[in-house]
Amino acid sequence: MPNLGVRGDERGYVMEAVRHKVAYLSPSGTTRRVAETIGEALRARGAVVETLDLGKATRGGPMGVSGAGPTCVWVGSPVYVHHPLPQVLQFVEGLPVLRRGFGVPFVTWGAATSGLALWDLGLALEARGYRVLGAAKVLAVHSTFWNVPDPLGAGHPDAEDLSRVEALVDGVLGKLAAGARPLDAASLDYQPPSMRAISEESSLERAKARMAPLRLDEGRCSACGACREACPAGAVELAPYPIFGPECIRCGRCVQACPEGALPFDPAPLQAHIRAMAAKYGEEPATRVLL
Ligand SMILES: Cc1cc2nc3c(=O)[nH]c(=O)nc-3n(C[C@H](O)[C@H](O)[C@H](O)COP(=O)(O)O)c2cc1C
Repeated sequence: MPNLGVRGDERGYVMEAVRHKVAYLSPSGTTRRVAETIGEALRARGAVVETLDLGKATRGGPMGVSGAGPTCVWVGSPVYVHHPLPQVLQFVEGLPVLRRGFGVPFVTWGAATSGLALWDLGLALEARGYRVLGAAKVLAVHSTFWNVPDPLGAGHPDAEDLSRVEALVDGVLGKLAAGARPLDAASLDYQPPSMRAISEESSLERAKARMAPLRLDEGRCSACGACREACPAGAVELAPYPIFGPECIRCGRCVQACPEGALPFDPAPLQAHIRAMAAKYGEEPATRVLL
């Protein structure tokens, strides 16, 4: 139901009239925590919310976003090699064009660089006609460091990070109620030119091409399917041993889930490289809300 609160050309909406959809992919669970914080904050403020775990959604039609009424889609991804996960971008690219669609991208990043992930998501939302009302990058433990006691980004997101996420929710709801202007997408392009250039050159696909392929030790593998179960990208087929498809995002969940240690992988060289990068660039502020 369109509301009073008219400002400029924009109309505000009463809280109950706006449907909120929080969609995310979270191989290691941190982006899920941020998505849950958003969902809880929205509900606590009386909003109507649905959440969608893109790792569990059936392929092809995980939508549930329709043209009826104003809809605000919150889209969350971890930063992988300077960008959002391809599956999250594909989700945004498949969103229906709505007359009254709003978008809020959010990313978690592991203290190396948040790259262009928010910018990519913001542009993709705008390309579908969703007006971007706010965005956040949230510092998180780096999921490549699952096997060490002192991971990069240890302890994050902490209470302070999550309180900023709640501030994002308040800011977005305030904008919806008051009909305030969308975010200027250029503000999501916050990287200094040197990092922007590096991020433009970087991608998960290119990084995968440089990495050694996942190697299966068939002598150890019992074809139990734990790897397929753990894979958030639907990339594992059992035939009867696991085969890793092109959807693999190198999250390492299969390596961690394998009860037989049949997917040997030593992340130490990668970790050294990532620590050096984090020390060199020292991106600040680590957690940031843009409204
Ligand atoms: C393959 C891979 C690539 C990653 N690339 C980056 C990156 O470019 N910059 C960064 O700061 N963190 C990077 N990370 C760390 C994740 O962005 C971070 O840990 C995130 O919070 C994970 O989210 P999740 O727990 O929802 O999976 C990467 C992690 C993995 C596994």
